[in-house]
Amino acid sequence: MKRILLIGLLAGISGMAIAGTNAGVKLDPVKIDLRDKPSLQNGARIFVNYCLSCHSAAYMRYNRMGRDLGISDELVKENLLFAADKVGDLMKAVMPAEDAKVWFGTAPPDLTLIARARKPEWIYTFMRSFYRDDNSPSGWNNTVFPNVAMPHVLYEWQGDRRAVFKTVKKKNVVEQEDGTKVEKVTETKVFDRFEQMKPGTMSGQEYNEAMRDLTNFLVYLGEPAKLVRYRIGVYVLIFLAVFLIFAYLLKKEYWKDIH
Ligand code: HEC
Repeated sequence: MKRILLIGLLAGISGMAIAGTNAGVKLDPVKIDLRDKPSLQNGARIFVNYCLSCHSAAYMRYNRMGRDLGISDELVKENLLFAADKVGDLMKAVMPAEDAKVWFGTAPPDLTLIARARKPEWIYTFMRSFYRDDNSPSGWNNTVFPNVAMPHVLYEWQGDRRAVFKTVKKKNVVEQEDGTKVEKVTETKVFDRFEQMKPGTMSGQEYNEAMRDLTNFLVYLGEPAKLVRYRIGVYVLIFLAVFLIFAYLLKKEYWKDIH
């Protein structure tokens, strides 16, 4: 019992330590399917074209990614190799981290393990929750990660949106030092909905699908061995099926004289 309490406490603390998460925002479910190769390939294409300029995925090599996703070295060279010279290179960001820090105030973190640090639902919702905010340095803000230093790099796809907040009033009774009670009203701004100001080049549905592919790819990136495990799993099942035949024949042989 004590141990369970301790684990609960530690989980709580580590949960709190993840900065920049807005607890009040609902995360949308996302269908992750690592066997969906076209989805992973599309995610890789988006990642290399739109994210790798600032973020690295420095624990992954281009050719390993190509092999896992069924893309030949030639196709990787032609279509995905903007930020490096060789297919065997690590996926490093184009922008040096020191420059990025000066420009954005924060260095863009490496994204290799982001889908494990944050949940896939978090990334999926985050990428769909940017809105215009004239008070922020980049001109953008995000309901999942308030005051994020990252601009909305895919705004041409999604279009311009603004966020509408509603004010929620809460009455609290506060006891003062002399024992008298006063009623205090606190007002908090809560996110209500997005309003589209200018359409993007994609419909809402198309944008959601693109972000699903990107999230799917980031989940693969966080644990590429999952794909290998699936493959080995199939071989193991085939082996067991074949083994069953021999085991059955052997059993029949052993028992044939016993009635
Ligand atoms: C122009 C540079 C730039 C580009 C391009 C960019 N980002 Fe970012 N990103 C940032 C910066 C800077 C931060 C750090 C934000 C902060 O901590 O306030 C960030 C943070 C993030 C985070 C949150 C990390 C955390 O702290 O948990 C995610 C997820 C993310 N980016 C995903 C992406 C994806 C996916 C793409 C490609 C579609 C992308 N970014 C493209 C600059 C960029």
